[in-house]
Amino acid sequence: MPTRILAIETSCDETAAAVIDDGRYIRSNIIASQTDLHQRYGGVFPEMASRAHVEAIGPVIQAAMAEAQASWDSLSAVAVTKGPGLPGSLVVGVNAAKGICLARDLPLIGVNHLEGHIYSHWLEADSGAAPVALARQRLHSASPFPLVALIVSGGHTELVLMRGHGQYQLLGHTVDDAVGEAFDKVARLLNLGYPGGPAIQKAAESGDPQRFKFSRPRVSLGTKTVRATSDEYMFSFSGAKTHALRLVQDCINADGGLASRAPVSDIAASFQDAVTDWLVEKTARAADAFGVKAVLVGGGVSANRLLREKMTARFGAAVSFPPPALCTDNAAMIGAAGYYAFMRGIRDDLGMDVAPDLKLG
Ligand code: KG4
Ligand code: ZN
Repeated sequence: MPTRILAIETSCDETAAAVIDDGRYIRSNIIASQTDLHQRYGGVFPEMASRAHVEAIGPVIQAAMAEAQASWDSLSAVAVTKGPGLPGSLVVGVNAAKGICLARDLPLIGVNHLEGHIYSHWLEADSGAAPVALARQRLHSASPFPLVALIVSGGHTELVLMRGHGQYQLLGHTVDDAVGEAFDKVARLLNLGYPGGPAIQKAAESGDPQRFKFSRPRVSLGTKTVRATSDEYMFSFSGAKTHALRLVQDCINADGGLASRAPVSDIAASFQDAVTDWLVEKTARAADAFGVKAVLVGGGVSANRLLREKMTARFGAAVSFPPPALCTDNAAMIGAAGYYAFMRGIRDDLGMDVAPDLKLG
């Protein structure tokens, strides 16, 4: 009998449930996306997100159980995202999980959403180029620790050192916008729509990344040992966003619209090139300083093709990316993280509250 986890994720704008065996095998992975709803408004509106979760959660959990052909009796535990995220969204998933645990006498495991993005790498998935598949294989076959994980999403930009399962040391984070948020804001400036990351990537394909000089992190000062959460590992994206804004302002028509001659694809390409350089440079500093065996890149922005190319050029077979479907928010990754927590004996009681500002480490 496998150790089977039912996992639930409702931290932002996806209502998701999955059934995961042994922290690795995806039996089902159902996602009801609210992207269409939020596309109309150019972003996520908390009240609407929460209401949509309430409507979707029951059918999504049922679909996950049905697709996995899992009986309630076959479950070992229920894992659910308890934070960070939108309070009104988190509470929908947490209450559903508690209800199931109460009715079926199952253990409850609260999972940090960021931990989920990290553990998405442990999931079995057959897509991915050879070095990526190799990196994922290593996670299972040998101890991959210490490793550094870069989590890049619409809400997060975090660099985390792991010395073992469940051991997290936050090395650095963004001091202003999350990187996905910067992609989304610049896409809006350029009239490219929401979500901005894929739109910028697409526009950048026909653009010149050298045309505009966006700022880069300062050159690393060698391999000296640095304190955790020193500037060395911090990110900042507001400068790049402001730079894009200035370029756009130069191309505004008398009627307030973006001029047709605006170099949209060149701005997109130059922005994307600079931002991905930041991500690679800071990750490389941490990888060198701590002598890591693996580099894990997760979260929505890790779907970015240029970022993948640069990371692979820098770290070779040591770098791992989840397949694109597991980069954005999903419940399978919560099931993988939940499994490793379960195996470490972690249990939460039914009084567990949501933790909208939960930190890692
Ligand atoms: O992890 P995720 O689905 O949700 C959060 O937890 O935020 O990440 C969503 C973010 C959005 O900001 C989106 O623009 C960005 O990931 N994203 C990308 C790409 N695909 C999604 N950013 C850059 N390039 C992409 N290909
Ligand atoms: Zn996420």
